[in-house]
Amino acid sequence: MSSIFGYMKNIYVLVLILTVISCENIKKKKNMSLVNIEKEFFGKTSDGTDVSQYTLKNSNGMHVSVINYGGIITSWKAKDRDGNYKDIVLGFNDLSEYESSSPYFGALIGRYGNRIKEGKFNLDGVEYTLAVNNGENHLHGGLKGFDKVIWDIEEDVNESSASLVLSYLSNDMEEGYPGNLDVKVTYTLSNNDELKVRYEAETDRSTVINLTQHTYFNLSADLSRHILDHQITIYADSFLPIDSTLIPTGELKDVEGTPFDFRELKRVGDDINESDRQLTFGNGYDHCWVLNNQDEGIRFVASAYDPLSGRLLEIFSDQPGLQFYTGNFLDGTIKSKNDGIYDFRSGFCLETQHYPNSPNEKSFPSVILNPGEKYDTETIFRFSTR
Ligand code: BGC
Repeated sequence: MSSIFGYMKNIYVLVLILTVISCENIKKKKNMSLVNIEKEFFGKTSDGTDVSQYTLKNSNGMHVSVINYGGIITSWKAKDRDGNYKDIVLGFNDLSEYESSSPYFGALIGRYGNRIKEGKFNLDGVEYTLAVNNGENHLHGGLKGFDKVIWDIEEDVNESSASLVLSYLSNDMEEGYPGNLDVKVTYTLSNNDELKVRYEAETDRSTVINLTQHTYFNLSADLSRHILDHQITIYADSFLPIDSTLIPTGELKDVEGTPFDFRELKRVGDDINESDRQLTFGNGYDHCWVLNNQDEGIRFVASAYDPLSGRLLEIFSDQPGLQFYTGNFLDGTIKSKNDGIYDFRSGFCLETQHYPNSPNEKSFPSVILNPGEKYDTETIFRFSTR
């Protein structure tokens, strides 16, 4: 009798184990089919090249769409506190608008993100001259920076993340920069609602490099609404004051007692209209913060919270600087993707990077990449709600 009971007990345990395993498998398969990348035609460039859009999806419902023109993030759907997924980045529906009138919406920026004074720098005794495309300075890599080139794409999907690997070979002296630069940028969307951006590069001649991502966020998802009610944290004790052409003066200024103190959550609009020479130069915030704990590698550097929707964006990076730009050059003349307009300060950028004009400031961390070295940096954008 007792052996029959023992036998039945064993069968019962076996069935239980098999049920658990098959449930896990169903769950895994379900996640796998939810984590995917969808490819579609996006448009043709003015010189006739086909451009595709790749939509990375995770198992929670987050979507990030990227095109192979400029590596641009065209749309990013994140949930609000009630679980509604909405697009929270500025951009366009048509490729022609990205080609003709984009203030770098969502783009990969290179070879040098941000400004280089008068488009000149000296490396190993040689003076290099770059395009002057922003007043008297060089901005975001020149006339045809990485935001305007066609990237090669590879897709990689597994059960917990979807990756897009973008590659581009920038030829020696392209836009005036020395060295054949082999660049790889990987966007990875995971089931933690994180987008990881990894930048890798190698060169065959000494050069300068500063890659970043130029997404304009509006976490309210109302893309024509101003961003002044967002609350920001920037983990930095100092920032880089600029001159009237937005080039850092070389000084590091303590944020204490200034409108630039974002060490504790602060509403963007709280101090933006203060009478302050630095805010006048930037027409608002358009400065690089000197991030704390630079020797720690990847660490928390900044966050943005929208009290209206409850969306929280946290940024982790290994970079020394962060350009916080409050869309001060948006002026309502560009049409939005929802038939509205992109008004003054309707989007903000949090661009992890090295400091502007570093090639001309010997006291700033080096941006030189030599042959045999590997440029390898990482920034993570993590979403949640409160
Ligand atoms: C710069 C702004 C510039 C904008 C271009 C930002 O990274 O800091 O000054 O106007 O890019 O869209």
